[in-house]
Amino acid sequence: MSRAYAKTILFGEHAVVYGEPGIAIPIKSMHTDIELTDSKNIEYETNWELDSSSKKKLEELFSFLGINDKSIKIKSNIPISSGLGSSASLSVSLIRKVHPLWTKDRVNELAYKCEEIFHGTPSGIDNSVITYEKPVYYENGIIEIIQVKPFKILLIDSGVRSSTKDVVLQVRKSYESNVEKYQKILSQIGYISKKAREELSYGNIKMIGFLMIRNHELLRELGVSCDELDDIVKLSLEAGAYGAKMVGGGKGGYAIALVDETNHKKVEDKLRKFSDNIIGVDVN
Ligand code: PMV
Repeated sequence: MSRAYAKTILFGEHAVVYGEPGIAIPIKSMHTDIELTDSKNIEYETNWELDSSSKKKLEELFSFLGINDKSIKIKSNIPISSGLGSSASLSVSLIRKVHPLWTKDRVNELAYKCEEIFHGTPSGIDNSVITYEKPVYYENGIIEIIQVKPFKILLIDSGVRSSTKDVVLQVRKSYESNVEKYQKILSQIGYISKKAREELSYGNIKMIGFLMIRNHELLRELGVSCDELDDIVKLSLEAGAYGAKMVGGGKGGYAIALVDETNHKKVEDKLRKFSDNIIGVDVN
C-alpha cells in the first residue's frame, strides 16, 4: 500500500500561480491510499463519487503514468473539489506505488506533470507540500522547507464544491482584463506570505491571524470567495478565532480558522451550526 497526505494552503493561493510566494502545510489525518494488483486490463475502484469528466481525467492519469495492466484500489478520506489537494495526493500516492525507489525530487517533478492533467496551469505548491510532507514556502518553482512554531487550526467544510481549474481560469480572465488592478492584489497577497513566513517561525499567533484575515479580504477582491466561505470567516472571528480564511481554489471547499487551546471549543461550537464537517489539526 502507498500513501500520500492532503494539504492546506495557509497563505498565497492564486497569487502563487503568478509567481508570488505561498505557504502550505501537509494534513496528515487525511490521505489517499493505493493498492495495485496485476490484471489483464486496467480497472479501478474508488470511494470518491466521480462525474464523467473526473473519470476521464483519472484514466488519462493512469495512462500518463504507464499503468495499463493493473487493478487499482483508491481509498481516500480527502474530499474532492475542496481545496485540500485530493488530485496531488492521488498523483503522489500512485507515483510512490509505481516507483518506490524514486527520490522525493523525482516524485515531485512527475507529480507536477500529473497536476497539469487536473488543473491546466498549476503553480506546483500542492504537489510540493504533499511530496515533501513538511510546511513549505513556495515561490516560482523554488521549494523551501520551513520551520514553524506549533499552532492549531480548524478545517471547516463550506459544503460547496467547485473546480479549481475553473476558478484559476476565471482569475486569469479578470487579470487579463485589468492587469494593473489584479497585479496589485496578487502582489499584496505575496507580501502577506513573506510576512507570514517570519511570523510562523516566531509563533506570533495574533499576527498570523491578522495576516489570514487580510489574505481572505484580498481573495474576496480577487473574486474567488463565496457567501458560505465569507460566513465561516465571519462566524470564526466572532467566536474568537485569531484569524480565518478560505483555502485553495475557492468558490467553495474549505476554510481554516486559527485557534488555540483556550478558544477552539468555542469556535467549533459556533461553527457546528453551519457545518458538521470540522476537523481540528495540530501543526508542528
Ligand atoms: O484547490 P486546490 O487544493 O487544488 O488548490 C489550488 C491552489 C491555487 O493556488 C488556486 C492553484 C495552484 O495551482 O496553486
